[in-house]
Amino acid sequence: MSDNRTGSIEKAIESPQPALDPSGIMQVGMGFWASKTLLTAVKAGVFTIISESKSLSGKEIQAKLGWHDRGVYDLLDTLVALKFLTKEGLKETAVYSNTPETDFFLDKNKQAYIGGILEMANDRLYKFWADLDEAMVTGKAQNEIKHTGKSMFESVYAEPERLKLFVNGMTGISRGNFTSFAQKFDFSKYKTMCDMGGAVGLLSCLVAEHNPHMQCTSFDLPKVEPIAQEFIKENNMEGKVETMAGDFFNNEFPKADVITMGMILHDWNLEDKKKLIKKAYNALPEGGAFVAIENIIDDERQENAFGLMMSLNMLIEFGDAFDFTGADFDSWIKEAGFKSSEKIHLAGPCSAVIAYK
Ligand SMILES: C[S@@+](CC[C@H](N)C(=O)[O-])C[C@H]1O[C@@H](n2cnc3c(N)ncnc32)[C@H](O)[C@@H]1O
Repeated sequence: MSDNRTGSIEKAIESPQPALDPSGIMQVGMGFWASKTLLTAVKAGVFTIISESKSLSGKEIQAKLGWHDRGVYDLLDTLVALKFLTKEGLKETAVYSNTPETDFFLDKNKQAYIGGILEMANDRLYKFWADLDEAMVTGKAQNEIKHTGKSMFESVYAEPERLKLFVNGMTGISRGNFTSFAQKFDFSKYKTMCDMGGAVGLLSCLVAEHNPHMQCTSFDLPKVEPIAQEFIKENNMEGKVETMAGDFFNNEFPKADVITMGMILHDWNLEDKKKLIKKAYNALPEGGAFVAIENIIDDERQENAFGLMMSLNMLIEFGDAFDFTGADFDSWIKEAGFKSSEKIHLAGPCSAVIAYK
């Protein structure tokens, strides 16, 4: 054996390779097991019925939900292992309770319920994401449009139950971000706001609640208007928040000091994004602000995994629609004529990007 070879063996013994750990790969690769377990529980209302009774046995949960014997303890104990439930006892003697988080966010009777988006994930996205491989090859949407020829908005909005599921889903995912925006953005220079694609009117209600001098309008498609009117009434915001029905591509934007779009730009391709930005610019006064609230991807496209996967979700939903970085936004708003911009981090992966006219 030559000196050289002996040297390299010694070196290898002195500094062994750090042990490689495959657990991250396995956790994400098999992540659909955990995802579907949680989604099934949310859809069935496990956390809601437990919340109503404080705690329940497996048999009580099974009886209320009409489940077969086979899966009851596997599913409930998986939820315990994943830290979504706690339990005392084993199988037939076990009593299950919610954690503070699942009791607050996943009880359908609480205002903080965020399960709408998870119910939609269970009913729609879970199945459509199975065709991501096909989307990667074709670049085409994999949702209802593939089977019925109708776009996501057309088919979801054709059935009142699915429409409600969708707008409630949006309310769940947006509440934290909108609350943060209503508190962090300086509204002192402005009097009016119009939220384009405002769904139930959540952003308008929160802005008016936290900034009582603001008068807000929530603009959305005609089918959404009655749902928004009900929501505004339930939240005692009539007089502070009004609704307007229309199509933001075919109708002029209402004039306002601040024009907001929550999770709107990412639904459209580049040409439509630019159209919406230009229409916002035209509707604003000098000094007015255009705000996009989205899961803004970091400029290097390597940190915000949720924002990047949201963009893949737009591929599944619309094909050519996509999420974007702050730098992308800056280039589009400059082209439209805006003078300056800023970014405000809201909650988790979500930020507001703001363009000033
Ligand atoms: C992804 S949701 C966002 C809802 C809400 N802004 C939020 O962030 O929670 C998109 C919204 O845009 C509305 N929308 C879609 N196409 C529209 C159009 N052409 N004109 C007006 N609103 C539209 C939908 O009805 C829906 O409420």
